[in-house]
Amino acid sequence: MAQRFQTLKGFRDFFPAECAARNYVFDVWRRIARRYGFVEYEGPILEPTDLYRKKSGDEIVGQLFCFQDKGDRDVSMRPELTPTLARMAAAKEREFKKPLRWFSIGQFFRYEKHQKGRGREFYQFNCDILGETSPLADAELMALSIDLMRELGFTKEDFRIRVSDRNAWVSFATDKGVSDGQITDFLQIVDKMERTPKEKTEELLGNLGLTLSDIEGFIASGAEASPALKEVLSNLEARGFAEYVEVDLSIVRGLAYYTGAVFEIFDIGKGMRAVAGGGRYDQLVGLIGGVDMAACGFAMGDMVITDLIRETERPNQLLEVAEAFASGVDVSIVIADPEKQGEAAGVVQQLRESGLRVIAPFSPAKIGKQFQAAEQAGAKLAIVIGGEYPELTVKRLEDRTESTVDVSGLSEAVAGLLSS
Ligand code: HAM
Repeated sequence: MAQRFQTLKGFRDFFPAECAARNYVFDVWRRIARRYGFVEYEGPILEPTDLYRKKSGDEIVGQLFCFQDKGDRDVSMRPELTPTLARMAAAKEREFKKPLRWFSIGQFFRYEKHQKGRGREFYQFNCDILGETSPLADAELMALSIDLMRELGFTKEDFRIRVSDRNAWVSFATDKGVSDGQITDFLQIVDKMERTPKEKTEELLGNLGLTLSDIEGFIASGAEASPALKEVLSNLEARGFAEYVEVDLSIVRGLAYYTGAVFEIFDIGKGMRAVAGGGRYDQLVGLIGGVDMAACGFAMGDMVITDLIRETERPNQLLEVAEAFASGVDVSIVIADPEKQGEAAGVVQQLRESGLRVIAPFSPAKIGKQFQAAEQAGAKLAIVIGGEYPELTVKRLEDRTESTVDVSGLSEAVAGLLSS
């Protein structure tokens, strides 16, 4: 018996309906990014593993799909785009006027435990501003992420953007006597606090000379802890976005390169993982490319957002789009006289050149079967080409009304019928 294959765990097939849904999300991502004046770029899918070892952090390095290539190089499928972007921005630093406003849509790979909202392959929309230190750049990215959610049909009943400042945490820890070498460990304890038993967190903090109540006290101080956050908040408020924003200092983000304001988007009530996340990383371009360049950005994945659209009643456009893929054609040709194959080919070409989506049968079949195929394809019109050619019968499948048209006026007649 033939061996049966399945996708690898955490990898997905995209059948046409799923592809239509995915492309709808891509389309919203692109549209909003352009509205904010961002331009699209792309990097390679395979990178030297060292690029991620530099500053992405242990967690992501532990999840790499990495291997030796035929030239014995240690390479990895990209788990994220930010280190690639840092390399690219540094390499052509002089060629572009700053600040750069760049976005990208691409596929990423992380060997994570496969679960709801998490795969080993996923798409991300990345949006970054490089060469700008003002907190207004952070606010611009947060506003863009809010507008993405709104464009996808969500309201303030559905999501919040939680903002924090990693820099404020570093100052707090330094004031409390945590040494520079221990800061990364400290941030990781805070990052994992929600998912770690309380006693364990207390023990880990104790090793650094801190207590849980120190941490809780700092979290309670909110925006007071960070002048940068205050500026971000008042800018978002001026845009009318205050109701979407929540200060939550418990957010520090898992990736190691963040240096300032950080944020994540969460659904309200559904308890899903973060829909998007990002922040300021002013040192990464220097570390990777040797050029000092301030930067901030975020990424939104396709998996959580798609689940959220499917599970929220209002934003159902995704489902409509997925269903609409079934009507992928405007016109289906019915060849009533097999002798007229050549004429049919000419008609098909004429209609396609006028911009219509047209299909025709590849082999002879009974007329009834051809009409059935037209309906199954979701065609709006069937055009019958038979012995009366150049006279053709055009049938509107919705109400089965018929008209006769000469081939010379076909495109016009079809356009009229489709718009009525
Ligand atoms: P991240 O938080 O690791 O950030 O990922 C951002 C988003 O990508 C997540 O909120 C989630 O939607 C999606 N995502 C991440 N891992 C998976 C997975 N295994 N399966 C499905 N979706 C996933 C970054 O990647 C940063 N590089 C973002 C950034 C850009 N920071 C600055 N610029």
